[in-house]
Order: sequence, then C-alpha cells, then structure tokens
Amino acid sequence: MTALGTTSPGTTGPAHPASARPDPGVEAGVGRTALLVANARALEARRSEALAVDPFAAHFVRASPGCADWPDDPARVVPGDPVWERLATYFALRTRVLDDHLLAATAAGTRQVVLLGAGLDSRAHRLPWPAGTTVWELDRPEVLRFKQRVLDRLDAAPTAHRRTVPVDLRDDWTGALTATGLDPSRPVAWLAEGLFLYLPAESELAVATALDGLSAPGSTLAYEIKTGLESPTVRAAPVYADARERLGVDLLALFAPGPRPNTAATLAAHGWTTTVRTPFDHAPASRLRTEPHDALAANRWVTCVKHTGARTVVRLP
Ligand SMILES: C[S@@+](CC[C@H](N)C(=O)[O-])C[C@H]1O[C@@H](n2cnc3c(N)ncnc32)[C@H](O)[C@@H]1O
Repeated sequence: MTALGTTSPGTTGPAHPASARPDPGVEAGVGRTALLVANARALEARRSEALAVDPFAAHFVRASPGCADWPDDPARVVPGDPVWERLATYFALRTRVLDDHLLAATAAGTRQVVLLGAGLDSRAHRLPWPAGTTVWELDRPEVLRFKQRVLDRLDAAPTAHRRTVPVDLRDDWTGALTATGLDPSRPVAWLAEGLFLYLPAESELAVATALDGLSAPGSTLAYEIKTGLESPTVRAAPVYADARERLGVDLLALFAPGPRPNTAATLAAHGWTTTVRTPFDHAPASRLRTEPHDALAANRWVTCVKHTGARTVVRLP
C-alpha cells in the first residue's frame, strides 16, 4: 500500500488554538471508550466469519498499559460475558453496518468522509475507498496523538487521503476542518459513531447545525443515539459494578446527563431525511440477540441524507 497523504496532529497540520478543556487522552474519561471499542474490534477480527476485520485494533489496545488484562482472544472470553461478548458483539455489528453505510456513500460518488469523534477508528487505513477519497478524523488532540504514535510504529499506510483534526467538538471546529481542505460545495459523508451520547444536548445540536452548514445536497450522516439513559437500577446492578471495575471507567457517568435533543428534527428542518433503525434490525446478520430488559434496546442508529427544500419534522420513537 502506498501512503496517499497523512497529516499528523500537531505536526504538518494547521495550527489550532489548544482547547482549555482537560484532555486525558485514551487513558481516562471518554477517551478510554475509544480503547473499549478498539478491543471489541480486536476480538471480532480474530473470530471466524468476523463482521469486520480491523488489523490495527489490537495494536492500539496493546499500546495502552491500562488495558493489559483485557482479553485479546475470543477463546479467553467467558460465554455470556456482558462486556467482552455482548457489548463487543454490539460494537462489531455497529462497525460493519457503518462500514457498509460509508462505502455506499462513496460508491454513490461522495469523496469526502468525516469521522466525528473518530477515536481509534481505522477506517482510513482498512476500507477499500475509491480513488480520490479523503477521510478526516476529528477527536481531541491527545487521542489523535496516541493513535498516530501507534500507526507510525506500524508504518501504516492509509487507503485514502487522510487528515487528522485535533479539536474538542464542544467548541467551534468547522474552521479547523475547512482549513485542512474540506470543500463544503461537494457532498460529505459524516459519521458520529459512539459520540453523541457523551456530548451535552446543546453540543449535539450545535454539531448537527454546524455539519449541516458544511453539507452540500447529497451529503449523508450516520449517528448513534440512546433514546433514554440507563435507570439507577442498571447502575446499581452487580454486573455493572463488575464491568466498571474491569474496564477502569464508569461508562454511565460519562453519558451526558439530561434529556437528549431531537437532532433528527433539527436536521429535517434543514432539508435532511432521516431513517431510524435499532441494532436488532440488523441483528439477523450477526450474533446479537435481544435479552429481557436489554440496555441496548435504547440504542438507535440514524442515517440521514441531505436534500434541498425538504421540511418535515421527524419524531423519534
Ligand atoms: C466511544 S469512542 C468512539 C470512537 C470511534 N468513533 C469508534 O466508534 O471507534 C468516543 C470518542 O469520542 C471522542 N469524543 C468524545 N467527546 C468528544 C469531544 N467533546 N470532542 C472530541 N472528541 C470527543 C472520544 O475522545 C472518543 O475517541
């Protein structure tokens, strides 16, 4: 593979004002969730009939000392383990569904792909992008630095032009993105995978409004939401305490508190049409099965297309 072009955070990219917000990278807080998803993808890559094969995921996890006791082999996962079997299967399915979504957008002609809250997503290195595709990765600076260190050690070459944009998505990030070459007059395929749950409602809406401002007709967006937060009963359950201990992060504490916004309605008002699916709509192709009182039942995967002139209001179930 030949490197088509990369911009490492803080090196050849444009100068961005450092956010005053704390940024503990991948070792703590919300950054650590990027490692959690990476480990799920590392496990999936080693399964027969994997939904997605990410050859970089295990390298990211191994590079983080705080994950030394996470299983890297499906044979080491206890059947029924709520984290490394159930949640990991969810992430594997999500990866595959959103891989397919992005590749469909580029098959339809889009050549600009933006990963919001990209974390350790290696799509810029592992998917078969059409020639002329550019993939932008937006995340906080320390997360992108960690990622780049691992990719550099592997001498990894992207399969598209790749641009990394270190930003906090609660701040204004659009100037940093256009400064690295995004052309708002051409369609964009946007992805917010595992991001909005962690943003305050007003930041989620601000991101949606901002990306709309950079989206020519024909642009697409896929994002994940939860229709409700887990109840105090879930938080108090021994299974959750056990997961928190093993992962070294309190996932529920990371979710932004308060009611979630109706982002689909905001997008609809700007001319986007929206399709809402549950993970279980895709589950027949995977090992994901529903369980009674399933926390994943509140998850939705939303895909949208921007048209001109459409003004309908979508209400999420
Ligand atoms: C669950 S991970 C998902 C990563 C990636 N999208 C994936 O699915 O593998 C959430 C990511 O969102 C990023 N993130 C959360 N809040 C952010 C913010 N305010 N600004 C930039 N990135 C943020 C985190 O750093 C982390 O990498």
